[in-house]
Amino acid sequence: MKQLPKEWIEQIITLLNERIVVVDAKGIVVYMDQAYCDFIERPVNQCIGYHVKDVIENTRMHVIVKTGKIELEDFHPINGSVMIANRFPIVVDDEIVGAVGTVMFPTPENLRDFKNKIQQLVTDLSYYRDKVNNELRSKYTFKDLIGNSQEFVHLKEFAETVAGNDSSVLITGESGTGKELFANAIHNSSLREQHPFLPINCSAIPEELFESELFGYSEGAFTDAKKGGKKGLFEIAHNGTIFLDEIGELPLSMQSKLLRVLQEREIQPIGAQKYISINVRIIVATNRNLLKMVENGEFREDLYYRLNVIHIDIPPLRKRKEDIKQTAYQLLRKLEHKFYRSDVMISKEVIKQLEMHHWPGNVRELENVLERAINMLKENTILLQHLPLYIRDIILEERMNIEQTEKNRGNEIVYLKKMKEVIADAEKQAIQNALSHTKGNKLEAAKLLGIGKTSLYDKCHQYSIN
Ligand SMILES: Nc1ncnc2c1ncn2[C@@H]1O[C@H](COP(=O)(O)OP(=O)(O)OP(=O)(O)O)[C@@H](O)[C@H]1O
Ligand SMILES: [Mg+2]
Repeated sequence: MKQLPKEWIEQIITLLNERIVVVDAKGIVVYMDQAYCDFIERPVNQCIGYHVKDVIENTRMHVIVKTGKIELEDFHPINGSVMIANRFPIVVDDEIVGAVGTVMFPTPENLRDFKNKIQQLVTDLSYYRDKVNNELRSKYTFKDLIGNSQEFVHLKEFAETVAGNDSSVLITGESGTGKELFANAIHNSSLREQHPFLPINCSAIPEELFESELFGYSEGAFTDAKKGGKKGLFEIAHNGTIFLDEIGELPLSMQSKLLRVLQEREIQPIGAQKYISINVRIIVATNRNLLKMVENGEFREDLYYRLNVIHIDIPPLRKRKEDIKQTAYQLLRKLEHKFYRSDVMISKEVIKQLEMHHWPGNVRELENVLERAINMLKENTILLQHLPLYIRDIILEERMNIEQTEKNRGNEIVYLKKMKEVIADAEKQAIQNALSHTKGNKLEAAKLLGIGKTSLYDKCHQYSIN
């Protein structure tokens, strides 16, 4: 007998105590033994030809074909049971053509050995698993990013391509353009996907707490320090991604500490003698002009270049008008779900009006407008009357009506300013007054005006006040 008959091979595999899956270089399942399929309760024909991620929960087979690294004796939870998994790349002519993975139920003895050997890992794992399951999972993928305009599609493709490497990413764009969504999607299609995605809003953490939040502290570091110390966010995000939102708000003192972490890839918790190595990818986002901040000495130039390895600049909605209709409909489909509606339509007039609007709040604003509309909807079509006044531009319409009537009557036209313009004039004036009072100090001016620093910067930008 020259070759083992196929039936023999199949039976041998079944007799072995291990379940087997084989994927190709793209992570598509090309073989899976019957017992494995039975265990995950999926017919063979619904396993073969599918991406392994869609077939086996918590799998890492698609990672192996990328890293080419063997992984042995890994705990792999499937269907509520913990399996022991071994994963190997399949290399032909120096090229990774696929991977083979085996899983096995642990026996009491090897479980005990395992426990002794990697007790610490088990404890860490359950700690991470709870954390990850509860809050640290990134929620969105590229599929959730709506937008069909050429520019947006290219941007998505670019982001997807660079997701796989470990470089820092800077995401810029106006409020509501989807910066956080992009960050989520990048993490989700990276090899770090099964590790934490940890968003941190730099403007929400008080300056004096920043260091202890990010880097943690050791026991006895200061009077109120918790017993046993505290893990910093960088340590919690180990192997995953940290998303530093509103990076422009990071105080200068923390900027240098962050730079150190990026350069040295290690952190020193407050009061600790030792440095801890960390492996995190950094994605940052801002709606401020960082380069201008660098010029003004508000942001470290060296940090800027460290972060700006890959730059994703998301265009505002008004610059991709061709996306508005489709985005509106897709958002609507999402909202229908939430409001137990179906087949809601948008009238042509509404679409026209939506395409004319300036969308300072971008997709988030569009989502809010649609949610409001669907709430008011009795029939199945969103009409002009379901839009908020500022979008319907009733004031503008009224102004035109008045002008026409007055003209017809041969009277002098009284110019009515649009409400938005009146508010903008007033805001601009108030900001200029405050700034001249504080001799240009924006922080002080924001305090005087009773608004946040970010909001002041945004408005200065909007009204071109330097
Ligand atoms: N391209 C998109 N496709 C689908 N939904 C989107 C898109 N962009 C934004 N959204 C929606 O808008 C909301 C705001 O998105 P996100 O929080 O990512 O914006 P942002 O750019 O981080 O805004 P901000 O600067 O105000 O923090 C999200 O909840 C999401 O539902
Ligand atoms: Mg955001």
